[in-house]
Amino acid sequence: MKVLVITSSPNEAGLTAACGEAARQGVVDGRCPARVVNLPSYMIERCAVCADGWGPCKTKHECRLEDDFEELHAMFGEAEAFVWVTPVYFGEPSEAFKAFFDRLRRCEATKSESAASALAEKPTICVAAAGGSGNGAVSCLATMERLARQLGAATVDLIPVTQRTREYQLETIHDALVALCTEKAKTTRKQELPISARKAQRAPRGRPDRRGHRRGTPREDDE
Ligand SMILES: Cc1cc2nc3c(=O)[nH]c(=O)nc-3n(C[C@H](O)[C@H](O)[C@H](O)COP(=O)(O)O)c2cc1C
Repeated sequence: MKVLVITSSPNEAGLTAACGEAARQGVVDGRCPARVVNLPSYMIERCAVCADGWGPCKTKHECRLEDDFEELHAMFGEAEAFVWVTPVYFGEPSEAFKAFFDRLRRCEATKSESAASALAEKPTICVAAAGGSGNGAVSCLATMERLARQLGAATVDLIPVTQRTREYQLETIHDALVALCTEKAKTTRKQELPISARKAQRAPRGRPDRRGHRRGTPREDDE
């Protein structure tokens, strides 16, 4: 499972970057490929709010502004799971986070069932990196959760981190990614097995019933 880790702080040695690194390490330890992208390293203008409120984002699901948005937009189609990490500014995600996700939402949340969102059903973990007080971490996570829902993503966890909780919350982020990657790998391996092999894996349990069947033993009329 390819995991895209999005960070959004100008501070390359700060708490947001540390959270992104913990996520990346968790993905690697879960034996999956990870890519980390820091939004302030890209040129992303704010939405131009074309015409009467909508531009080609509504009908063609693309943005008319020519900057680095499309390069990042394409990465969302390729990824199979996401980690979004933002510093908490005034109880909200950072400006870099908002500028990018405002435009992504316009392009993806406007898709219909026949052309589903590039994030549809994809597991997503949201992380809010706050200062000493931690005030506003919850409202920031609530904004991220709403955004994930509008984009059709499947929110797996919402993790607040402060300077005080840093040590154990970095472990939480790491472990959340290990669990996500290994759980997915188990499900995929199970689905790849033929039905007969899956049945054989089920050990017979309990005493045989009157017809000689044990609970858990496949019968001829089983699927
Ligand atoms: C403009 C601004 C607003 C902030 N607002 C909050 C806030 O509402 N709540 C909070 O706990 N910390 C707030 N902080 C502190 C940052 O969330 C904190 O320093 C965080 O670690 C920043 O991430 P970084 O280490 O990646 O730079 C604010 C910082 C800045 C620069």
